[in-house]
This record gives sequence, structure tokens and C-alpha cells, in this order.
Amino acid sequence: MSLLIDAIGELSTQHLTGEASPASGEGAGVLRDAAVVLEGERIAWVGRSADAPAADERYDAQGRAVLPGWVDSHSHLVFAGDRTAEFEARMAGQAYAAGGIGVTTAATRAASDGELRRLLAGRVAEAVAGGTTYLETKTGYGLEVGHEARSAALAAEAADEVTYLGAHLVPAGADPEAYTDLVCGAMLEAVRPHVRWADVFCETGAFTEEQSRRVLTACRDAGLGLRVHGNQLGPGPGVRLAVEFGAASVDHVNFLDEADVAALAGSWAGWADGGAAGDPAGTVATVLPACDLSTRAPLAPARRLLDAGVQVAIASNCNPGTSYTSSVSFCVTTAVLQMGLTVQEAVRAATFGGALALRRHIGADTDGQRAVGSIAVGHRADLHLLDAPSATHLAYRPGMPLTHAVWRAGQRMR
Ligand code: NIG
Repeated sequence: MSLLIDAIGELSTQHLTGEASPASGEGAGVLRDAAVVLEGERIAWVGRSADAPAADERYDAQGRAVLPGWVDSHSHLVFAGDRTAEFEARMAGQAYAAGGIGVTTAATRAASDGELRRLLAGRVAEAVAGGTTYLETKTGYGLEVGHEARSAALAAEAADEVTYLGAHLVPAGADPEAYTDLVCGAMLEAVRPHVRWADVFCETGAFTEEQSRRVLTACRDAGLGLRVHGNQLGPGPGVRLAVEFGAASVDHVNFLDEADVAALAGSWAGWADGGAAGDPAGTVATVLPACDLSTRAPLAPARRLLDAGVQVAIASNCNPGTSYTSSVSFCVTTAVLQMGLTVQEAVRAATFGGALALRRHIGADTDGQRAVGSIAVGHRADLHLLDAPSATHLAYRPGMPLTHAVWRAGQRMR
């Protein structure tokens, strides 16, 4: 079954190998008066509406804008419980500290499988309704072998990518060194069948540089791709460790010095933009605008990172403590209005950037999976149609419900 979506006012392909044509108002990766043909789960054709081939069905976009679906490369959706009181305290002036993770851990352990599955499915549905078509989520509120394994198994049922975050917090009463051993040993073994990635919260109050190093080494040796929560609460070793270990992403990055930025930029030296050649990608800096607002943290320096040549992703970090939203549209709006990105830079960071952070971009070794995060022939048919003539409206009309239709792997989701 094929579907022609035509009369697209602005198609933001984020596929940067095409020619820019500024005279028509088009930039690299943006086409006007465009059309796309979906065939099953894949994109079969992209071009001008006037040249579009026939298909089994037709959807008239009536001049609206189409983007790749959001690729949300950082979320924590497997949890139970509520942290409203902590949020209120923070809005009254209290600083965020990692300890709140323990509150969610207690509630998550107490929830039944059925309850967690229901909560998770509801959160994924909310994300998809907001235009997210590819989603990573993490463990990290189990912090005990059986509970981490359960979280990983449930996450694998609902999300596209699962990350092991046993190293989220040392549980109350546990010895930090012994707990780190557990994260690197029996816990890793228990989650291994369900996860592709491992992450460590390398921060004061969570895991030290030495402990983080042990976790990253053990997880890399177990064949997992690596990610790091780093430089969120203050300057620290997270970014340097991420680059040293070849992590796909370091997330938060609020407190960076020149050496951190240079290390991230250096990891991209020699990488051809667009990645079509399959060059090895470096460490993506993933910024989390909703988290920065919700913790009243200094905004991550996304503009500075882009100017330095670092590949940037934007993600929701949906979690009950620091960012209880899965709205990537809101994050994109904030990145434009508050972080100094242009609309197309922000859209790229939340689509192609997320795919890069998950190594699902064009040119990646995607284990036979289709590329996501950009619109080109052969990629997964993940599209986000806005009720607006251009992506600019995401920032021009902040907070408005602009998601009009969503296709995920060729299926109409909304
Ligand atoms: O990404 N930084 C660590 N983890 C989450 C917070 C989790 C929580 O407070 O429950 C984050 O912000």
C-alpha cells in the first residue's frame, strides 16, 4: 500500500546532501511545494508536488509543513509515583539534587508490572501524539538487580531504544563501591538481553569519575553503546569521559569549559556532514531545554557548541524529577527562543541530531534498521505534519498545539 502526501508547503527533510537554493527560499534540507510517497514502512519518493508519482492513496497537506518525526534520544519513562512537592519546593528556591531519584525508585519498586506497563504506554502515547516517532528510554528507577531487569524488559516492549542506567544513584544505605560492582556485574548481566545502551550519571551526589569509568568500561566490554549524563549540576569530568570512551552522546552539558567544548568538537573532526559516507560519528552534545527550565539551571550552551562544530541533539528528558514533559516541540521552541538556535538548527537537532545520538542516522551501521531523523528514499516513514505553513511557527507561536498528523513507520498515529 502506498500513500502520496502532496501539497506540502515546506518539507524539512534534514537530508543535507541536496543542493541549497536560496533564491526559492529553500535552504539545504528544505523543499517548497513538495510531496512524499510512503510505501509500507519506508519512504519511497521525495520531490516536487508537480512531479509526484501516483499512489494507492492521497493525503492533501493543503500547504502545511512536514518535518521528520521527532527523535527523542533521552527520556526516563519507566517510573511510578509523583514528585510535585519536590517541584514546588524548587520553584520556591530549593536547588535540584540527585537524591530525588530515590523517591521515584521507592514508588517504582512498589508498582506492579501491570501498573508500570500502563503508565509507560500512556507516556509513549503522549509523546507520539506530540510528534515523536522514535524514542529512547532508560532504566534507572529500579536500582536493584530484579527491578532494573524488570524496567529494562518493560522499556523494550514500548520504546525503540533502551538504555541501562543502573548507575543513576547509589541507593540509600548501599556502599557506593559495592553498588558500582553490582552495576558492572550481576545487574548488567540481568539487563543485557533488553538493552542496546548504557549510561552513567557522572555528577556530585551520583557517581564519581572513577566509578563512572568502571561502569563505562564494563558496559563497553559487554558490547553496549555508551552515553553519559554529564556536567549537569556543575563543571565535572562527564564530557571528557564521554569523549574518551567514544560515547554516542553526553547529555545535559550545562557547565562546560573551553576544554570540554574542544574535546567534543575534536570528536567530530573528519566527519562529513550528513554522514552519508558512513564516517564514524563523534560524541553528540544532547541539550535538554525543558530540564534546564524546570531546574532553573543555566541553559546549556547549544549556540556555542554548534559554532564550535559540535553535533547537537535536543531531547525531552521526560522524567518525574527534572523534566516532566515529553513535548519535543516545546524543547525546540525553547532552544530557538532561549538558546539562540535558528528554527532549522533546532529542528535538525531534534530529528537528525537525535538519530545521530542513537546511531540511527543515514550512514550509521543500523543493524539493518532503516535510518530515522531525516526524510529521504529508503528511510523509515516517520513524518510530523504541522498545522502551520512552516516550521518557523513552532517558535513564532510558542505553546500552540501545532501537531496535525503523525506517521510512524508508515502508520498514521494521529
Ligand atoms: O536526567 N540527571 C539524572 N537523571 C534525571 C533526573 C532524574 C530524577 O531526578 O528523577 C535527569 O535530569
